[in-house]
Amino acid sequence: MITLGEYIIEKQHDFPEASGELTSLLGAIRLASKIVNREINKAGIADIIGATGVENIQGETQQKLDLYANDVFKAALEARGEVCGVASEEEDDFVSFDSDRGINSKYVVLMDPLDGSTNIDVNVSVGTIFSIYKRVSEVGTPVTIDDFLQPGIKQVAAGYVIYGSSTMLVYTTGNGVHGFTCDPSLGVFYLSHENMQTPKTGNCYSINEGNYLKFPLGVKKYIKFCQEIEPEDNRPYTSRYIGSLVADFHRNLLKGGIFIYPSTAQAPNGKLRLLYESNPIAFLSEQSGGRATDGFQRIMEINPTELHQRVPFFCGSTEMVKDAEQMMRDNQE
Ligand code: AHG
Ligand code: MN
Ligand code: MN
Repeated sequence: MITLGEYIIEKQHDFPEASGELTSLLGAIRLASKIVNREINKAGIADIIGATGVENIQGETQQKLDLYANDVFKAALEARGEVCGVASEEEDDFVSFDSDRGINSKYVVLMDPLDGSTNIDVNVSVGTIFSIYKRVSEVGTPVTIDDFLQPGIKQVAAGYVIYGSSTMLVYTTGNGVHGFTCDPSLGVFYLSHENMQTPKTGNCYSINEGNYLKFPLGVKKYIKFCQEIEPEDNRPYTSRYIGSLVADFHRNLLKGGIFIYPSTAQAPNGKLRLLYESNPIAFLSEQSGGRATDGFQRIMEINPTELHQRVPFFCGSTEMVKDAEQMMRDNQE
């Protein structure tokens, strides 16, 4: 039985220049996730579900637990002192940690503190997504926007917590993807899924088909391809869409499948945010042998221009994503 803490320290030796800061940072994320997990488990009993009545900068209604999770992760990261700034779905602008320790540290964190938050009221899995970069500005100075607008290939680590039928933390530092399951009676994450591999193909497609009429032609064709009967090809595929990116991705990571949130007629860049949803999930996907693109281009090579930038997202089993990309190329309008 190896705990997450033990595993991270053991793996620290893989990085010759590692000084323990990233280990400590991941420890702060582990602690915050346990606190958020405890609150989520009380949803329905305590007065913590439902909307705040406030909208975030993206015009989405903030749920009470969105703000709670944001505060918990922010506070844990600031207190640990290994982070000089954070950017979050729930913050209009990035937040700079200007204490002596904060300003002298080298990492920034981008996060979606609570992903799929509208699912909480109905007891469906939600998650937290995080992405970690080394700052590009000088240590000892306040962080700048450039520290956050880095392409995904520069990520040092990324991961998610899924608050599901069990709570898991899944992360990568560029050496494979590893999953840890929380023993709720002890509050300890134990290694349960070492070196997770996405199957090269699968028979599950995840997309909000309610938007079908607004999808690009290539996506419509791919959906029809998924629905066609080809027994030797395991088609028709199964449609599964939870509406929490973390939960949909986690299922496809384990079982094989494709997740698509494409552009729509109203939203040419789709819905998902590049910096704290698509990039970290793309890093995990590639590290597990999968693939993540915007339908044409590798997600992690996109140069971001805005903190809350959105991007179409095709992610999952490599062969399935390639099939979808082929249909996007062949059906450009
Ligand atoms: P968030 O709760 O962080 O705003 O993210 C919700 C996202 C993502 O989790 C999910 O894949 C997608 O929104 C679902 O959107 P639709 O309801 O438009 O399908
Ligand atoms: Mn989200
Ligand atoms: Mn969110």
